[in-house]
Amino acid sequence: MTDATQSSPSGGSGEGGGEALIHCRGLQKSFHDISEGREIIAIQHLDFEVLEGEFLTILGPSGCGKSTLLNIIAGFEETTAGQVTLRGRPITKPGADRGVVFQEYALFPWMTVLDNVCYGLKEKGLPKEEQIGIAETYLNAVGLEEFANRYPHELSGGMKQRVSLIRVLANDPEILLMDEPFAALDAQTRKGLQEELIRLWQDSHKTILFVTHNVEEAVFLGDRVVVMTARPGRIKEIIEISLERPRDVTAPDFNLVRREATRLVEEELKGRNTAVLSHSG
Ligand SMILES: Nc1ncnc2c1ncn2[C@@H]1O[C@H](COP(=O)(O)OP(=O)(O)O)[C@@H](O)[C@H]1O
Ligand SMILES: [Mg+2]
Repeated sequence: MTDATQSSPSGGSGEGGGEALIHCRGLQKSFHDISEGREIIAIQHLDFEVLEGEFLTILGPSGCGKSTLLNIIAGFEETTAGQVTLRGRPITKPGADRGVVFQEYALFPWMTVLDNVCYGLKEKGLPKEEQIGIAETYLNAVGLEEFANRYPHELSGGMKQRVSLIRVLANDPEILLMDEPFAALDAQTRKGLQEELIRLWQDSHKTILFVTHNVEEAVFLGDRVVVMTARPGRIKEIIEISLERPRDVTAPDFNLVRREATRLVEEELKGRNTAVLSHSG
């Protein structure tokens, strides 16, 4: 451990000092696996809190239950046991308070970039001028103002993911849930999007839960990094990161945190069989 990190199995409170917004208590989720003909427990005994306004990254090997956890918080999946609450109220279904961004770009191919970004605002019944005003603000924020009238197929992967992100942000959810949103992008594009995401987060004061299996990404983005165990996923450790932003991935103190996080993930990888190791995503 270094000055830049503090670990605690239970989490403690983050740097931002916000109140706990989401509580996960004794979460368990089992699936019936048809190919194996048995129940598999994806996550078990999972307890942690998400603080208001924090950027929390969830790091763990593929197949450890990260997406399952995020889908439960999103309200897409029910728990088998335990409970998730948001401001003390159980999460039972999706809601406008939570916006979700996946690895796949969730854009309507037949709509222009502008119409894609306006979509949720239109659904809410906002007047046209207001929709366009909000959409243009976000398009400017990610440097896509000149692409407003293009279609998704005319954009690069990085641009499509920017549109997917601002399309969710435009709806102004309190919480952003992100599941490996940059995993399909090349390293340079990914870096650019990570930096933009930090800027958008700092300007918007939203709470972000960001799932990744990439150690550097988790350490670059998070106020805290929740490291999960291999399946069944539990919280292995929570690393608090006090490195100043914007973070420099080449700095020695960044490297110390990255090494510690890598060590924790590798410990989990060692204990697993190769079938799980080859699982992608
Ligand atoms: N709908 C499902 N049916 C059966 N098994 C599933 C389902 N969703 C996830 N799993 C299993 O649960 C485990 C955790 O999956 P997942 O949450 O996707 O992990 P991660 O996102 O960390 O890669 C994996 O073994 C996966 O195969
Ligand atoms: Mg996943």
